[in-house]
Amino acid sequence: MRLQGKVAIVTGARKGIGSAVSMALAREGADLVLVSRNIKRKDQVVLEIEKLGCNVIVSQVDVGERARVFSMVREAVAQFGRVDVLFNNAGLSNPVMLWKMTGEQWDEIIRVNLKGTFNCLQAVALQMLEQKRGSIINVTSSEAILGTIGQVNYAAAKGGVHALTRSAARELAPYGIRVNNIAPMADTDMTQKIAHDPKYKDKYLQRIPMGRFAQPAEIGPAVVFLAADESSYITGQTLCIDGGMVSL
Ligand SMILES: NC(=O)c1ccc[n+]([C@@H]2O[C@H](COP(=O)([O-])OP(=O)(O)OC[C@H]3O[C@@H](n4cnc5c(N)ncnc54)[C@H](OP(=O)(O)O)[C@@H]3O)[C@@H](O)[C@H]2O)c1
Repeated sequence: MRLQGKVAIVTGARKGIGSAVSMALAREGADLVLVSRNIKRKDQVVLEIEKLGCNVIVSQVDVGERARVFSMVREAVAQFGRVDVLFNNAGLSNPVMLWKMTGEQWDEIIRVNLKGTFNCLQAVALQMLEQKRGSIINVTSSEAILGTIGQVNYAAAKGGVHALTRSAARELAPYGIRVNNIAPMADTDMTQKIAHDPKYKDKYLQRIPMGRFAQPAEIGPAVVFLAADESSYITGQTLCIDGGMVSL
């Protein structure tokens, strides 16, 4: 098992990509801190991970709330003694065309997707700096790289994550801490409309050379790779798991 004895924090762990990646990390032996606003001990993902024999902490945190993020990391260290991996995945979207977008809609998407990512990255990096070791995987989007319609707030936030990752990777590399991005494309609640509504589906699938959305479970192996020591010389990169939509 590639992550035996390691401790991983996963944000946005209750469903979608976060839940599938949590399962993948657990199968490789990691102990887990599962974070999202509404996660509960009786949720499927928690029960399944416990069945695998992993230790799990469940933490109800809005990643945009800085003080709560820092106390979640303190609790993780108090319980497990260290943090080896952060899958910095919590995010949300609220599609609306540019000319109809309110200031509040802009602010909320930036608060969760960009500031939330920064909050978690900083709180965990401070712990990893003491350990002189760790792997952080942020989540950006192909939409940030290619541009998209109806989500200027989301694309801007994810573009910010892309830049944040590159700069954090440079700052943290001398201390043995790696920071990478994934850019996924998967069938989840977030992509429900574009993946299933006939009004959007065919148009969207034309953008994906493989002609389908991934299942969330297909994202797990790439995150395990970036979390594990086998990627020990990779930092500051974006791994697109998007059926060929972006070619960098
Ligand atoms: N699906 C795709 O194709 C795709 C493409 C590009 C990027 N992404 C990114 O991948 C990540 C996961 O997306 P997904 O598709 O799995 O979406 P999803 O199914 O909607 O899941 C989002 C997760 O984030 C949590 N969450 C939302 N706001 C939060 C907050 N303020 N604080 C803490 N947790 C929060 C949700 O749980 P609670 O409701 O319990 O908080 C949920 O567990 C996101 O960052 C998304 O932007 C997804």
